[in-house]
Amino acid sequence: MKATVRAHPNIALVKYWGKRDEALILPHQSSLSLTLAPIHVTTTVEFGAPSDTVELHGHAAKGSERDRVLRLLDAVRVQAGRDLGPAKVVSRGDFPMAAGLASSAAGFAALAVAGRAAAGLPEDTRASSILARRGSGSACRSVQGGFCEWQRGERADGEDSYAVQHFDAGHWADLRMVVAIVDRGEKEVKSRDGMKNTVETSPYYPAWVKDAEAEVPRARELIAKRDLEALGELCERNAWRMHATSLAADPPLCYLSAATLGLIQHLREQRKKGVPVWFTLDAGPNPVLLTDAAHEVAAEALARACGAVDVVRCVPGGDATLLTEHL
Ligand code: PMV
Repeated sequence: MKATVRAHPNIALVKYWGKRDEALILPHQSSLSLTLAPIHVTTTVEFGAPSDTVELHGHAAKGSERDRVLRLLDAVRVQAGRDLGPAKVVSRGDFPMAAGLASSAAGFAALAVAGRAAAGLPEDTRASSILARRGSGSACRSVQGGFCEWQRGERADGEDSYAVQHFDAGHWADLRMVVAIVDRGEKEVKSRDGMKNTVETSPYYPAWVKDAEAEVPRARELIAKRDLEALGELCERNAWRMHATSLAADPPLCYLSAATLGLIQHLREQRKKGVPVWFTLDAGPNPVLLTDAAHEVAAEALARACGAVDVVRCVPGGDATLLTEHL
């Protein structure tokens, strides 16, 4: 009745931005990401506890945060088909939370896999991905390592909307992602609210959906060939388009800060000088640099020169895994 899982966050190369179903968390378009190590979240789930308790990163979770965790475990109870009693959840991460890094992705992926294991359900990446998706969309891509595509699916019940792994972490072991933390603060507008506003008010939104869907198979082809330059260009183009559609929302949504733009400018200059480095940007100010092992030190130096207060160097990460030691 107790299980502990470690999962890694992921960064999308082709972003997910916008839901067609808010309750089930079904996206308008497919997306594709890389799971990142060594950073991770570890989560223990225990059923049969005296009462429902949720501890996230050392604090008792409250309000909607707590509700999202307990709702996911309710879905586990339905899958188990029996009364599992109240649940105790303890979760800890080893990287800056809510700073544009997908801590919720790693957290909900770990929760889904641990929840199923604690309930005695068999390992099933598809079922875990669907469960994780219901906690936080991008979490469905953190159940497995390497390069995963979240297929939007067509069904109204979401049973065909989950992530599949195209290449494992070993496929492109010298690919690097360098997270440049230019701002440690919590983001002003959570992605959930930002994407809702964009879907409802941005005149560019339909164009975003069409374009992003078409980029996914292209990105997959470039990953197959390990073509860093072309993948880097695709990644930047997709990030700009996500931010462009958000900037066009009403009220406008701007996640970029002066430091973000300064870093991007410097990165372009470095690229002209022959440094193979590209960026992507989620719903926050902290760029994630894409490069290879031979240039990760140069990428970190570039980020620091542009005022990054912290830099997290990442390599392709593996699957969410069960641990024998509990929190
Ligand atoms: O899964 P959420 O609700 O945290 O949304 C993630 C949205 C982006 O990080 C901006 C893009 C993505 O695909 O991860």
